[in-house]
Amino acid sequence: MTLSRRTFTTSALGATALGIGLGPVGTGAGVRAAAATTTPRPGLRSVTPRGLRIGSAANWKPNQRTCETDQQYRDLLGREFNSVTPENQMKFRVLQPEPGRFDFSGADALVKFATDWGQTVRGHTLLWHSNPAWVSEADLTPDRARAILRDHITTVCQRYRGRILHWDVANEVMRGIHEQGGVGLRTDDNPFLRACADDPVGLIADAFRWAHAADPAAKLYLNDFDVTGFNAKSDAYVPLIRELQKRNAPIHGFGIQAHERNDQGVPADVQQNLERFADLGLEVSITEADIRVWKVPAGGPTPEQVRQHTEGYRRLVQAAVNVKACTSFTTWGFTDKYSWLPADGGFDAPAIMDANYQPKPAYRELERILPTVTRARSVRR
Ligand code: XIL
Repeated sequence: MTLSRRTFTTSALGATALGIGLGPVGTGAGVRAAAATTTPRPGLRSVTPRGLRIGSAANWKPNQRTCETDQQYRDLLGREFNSVTPENQMKFRVLQPEPGRFDFSGADALVKFATDWGQTVRGHTLLWHSNPAWVSEADLTPDRARAILRDHITTVCQRYRGRILHWDVANEVMRGIHEQGGVGLRTDDNPFLRACADDPVGLIADAFRWAHAADPAAKLYLNDFDVTGFNAKSDAYVPLIRELQKRNAPIHGFGIQAHERNDQGVPADVQQNLERFADLGLEVSITEADIRVWKVPAGGPTPEQVRQHTEGYRRLVQAAVNVKACTSFTTWGFTDKYSWLPADGGFDAPAIMDANYQPKPAYRELERILPTVTRARSVRR
């Protein structure tokens, strides 16, 4: 195989970085040095100036420990990104599958991985509607719900105290316009909010307080999908945030997941939307970016699909770069090899690298736009 200057191949990695032991190192400088001597591609983290983190969700399912079993994956995750989000390892159902029985093995391994590579960690997530059966199927009283959540948050945040830069404290607490019941807090399918339906905002405020008490340095976020542009759901977050602030909840950030589609495109007002949350005094992040492609032909995406996919990422990363309060841009997995999308769902190929780890044009857009962050970010404020 011929190696062009811009191609990053399995053999390049296997024969150099991994083969001669230049794998994970503890400092950013070390990572840059390793990258410089072993590969022509600098890696996204190297072109991203301070102040903005470039991240990926880490695929590391309990039964599919990708970072251990796939060395090429592991090396790219470490080399390309300076922030990682556990895709599943820090979810309630993984950390506390039974009452009082915590399993930190996957989360610990990921935090160690991040430390070895000089990466920060985005904790994900503490209060969510997807929970183990012992939580979701119980008929919880308000006191019991609060006790379970308080104990869980305190235990988890204390364990990783000082190791988590951002915590997605409350994930997807708002229903969307197309969901049953319409826009509003998930007092139906979130068992904690359901039990505390008399004052769900009070419970959310307490979740932030408990997390802050256990890990005072972590930046604490609300995070949701379908809030990329101005719409009824993102609009509803504005009064919620104001109310949380009025109640002195330690809320620091708003995360836009940005799971987008090639056929609908990324909302053109994503930058203005980030700015309106910044104007509430929050930092903001793009936390789960991906652009799913509808009906990819067997031979690969059509030129039009590639254009739409690339344009979607361009718009998202340009917005992140342009908004000074934006502290991180995270993709929900960097390779199609471990796509989280259902295989038969019609949508596919969401990531910035294909299943063979080849960078797509969307990767090149990130590589091109991220270095412009310093110049652009000074413009706004
Ligand atoms: C997804 C994971 O990617 C899957 O592996 C898992 O089976 C279900 O959860 N929004 C979120 C993430 O906040 O936690 C979800 O992650 C994707 C949508």
